[in-house]
Amino acid sequence: MHTYRIAAIPGDGIGKEVVPAALEVLDAVAALHGGIAFRYDAFPWSCDYYLAHGKMMPDDGLRTLRDYDAIFLGAVGDPARVPDHVSLWGLLIAIRREFEQAINLRPAKLFRGLESPLRRPNDFDFVVVRENSEGEYSEIGGRIHKGADELAVQSAIFTRRGTEQAIRYAFELAGKRRGRVTSATKSNGIVHSMPFWDQVFREVGAEHPDIAASSAHVDALAAFLVTKPETFDVIVGSNLFGDILTDIGAAIMGGIGIAPAANLNVNGKYPSMFEPVHGSAPEIAGLGIANPIGQIWTAKLMLDHLGHQDMGAHLLQVVEDVTEAGLKTRDLGGSAPTLEVSREIVRRLQR
Ligand code: NAD
Ligand code: IPM
Ligand code: MN
Repeated sequence: MHTYRIAAIPGDGIGKEVVPAALEVLDAVAALHGGIAFRYDAFPWSCDYYLAHGKMMPDDGLRTLRDYDAIFLGAVGDPARVPDHVSLWGLLIAIRREFEQAINLRPAKLFRGLESPLRRPNDFDFVVVRENSEGEYSEIGGRIHKGADELAVQSAIFTRRGTEQAIRYAFELAGKRRGRVTSATKSNGIVHSMPFWDQVFREVGAEHPDIAASSAHVDALAAFLVTKPETFDVIVGSNLFGDILTDIGAAIMGGIGIAPAANLNVNGKYPSMFEPVHGSAPEIAGLGIANPIGQIWTAKLMLDHLGHQDMGAHLLQVVEDVTEAGLKTRDLGGSAPTLEVSREIVRRLQR
């Protein structure tokens, strides 16, 4: 029996509801298959923690997380009480950066039993590889207060190492899937970083002659995700482009409440972090109606990462069985509360 040590950070809002729900499911799938177990240590780091202590986590918080096999996070953000850039940079982004989680893997596919808002939802199944440590998310810049001439400057950072790593990961992933990579670019309007991104894409592409590589301007790509999502296999994009495209991916699946994500440390030095695409959804927090599927599918990505793809595949199948049976939360057109959905998944894993 191998026991994995998982740092659980529910965070804010609905994170506090969907993380415990997903952990019950994770335990059920481990018990069913056998051979592994999970030990969770829960950390209350959140905006509540910030308001009590003046920081999102203790000074040695990152040191504490370092020794875990993985980090399982809900969502961060309580914008009515703490500015988002303070809470997110103090916890979520701090973890991504400290642990060199340079790849954010975000799958999207047509899900059994869910209604896509697309008029003709063909059978799409793609993964966005989002560069997760640099790009448009930088601390470089500043604000100058000059009355009517007030201005803000924000620099985007594209390193050869970070760009190449994301693009190379996308090509390797495509080699294990349907052999196609699409790069999200904007080199028609952004004159330094995007031509550089395109150049790296061409160079890495030349090393993979077996993969069909193409580029699309991110604005057009956003439209294609609505009009012909089934034509995509792996999409690689910068930090901000990947962020936006994956909310479109979530929407065409049927809702942001189901979309999963894996923040991967690919050099194996640090733990990876698993958190859904959605945020803390403050307006429905505390009502017990949040959709737990994004967090549960995220647990599947954690199983995959830990080397238990068989369990992960089985788990996702059971989740789809449940949506196909019509048990859905309100955001998906149903009326089931969070725990009714997650516990039905647990029940089906126990029989
Ligand atoms: P959000 O994802 O929290 O909510 C967007 C919409 O989707 C809302 O209508 C919400 O009710 C709904 N929604 C989201 N998840 C749902 C679920 N599981 N079930 C049912 N409905 C769900 O995005 P937002 O409103 O832009 O952000 C709210 C807060 O979350 C902000 O503080 C933001 O910065 C933060 N945020 C955090 C993360 C993260 O920690 N990974 C990600 C995105 C946003
Ligand atoms: C996400 C979120 C975060 C991001 C925010 C909350 C900083 O939107 O994980 O998709 O932009 O990375
Ligand atoms: Mn996002």
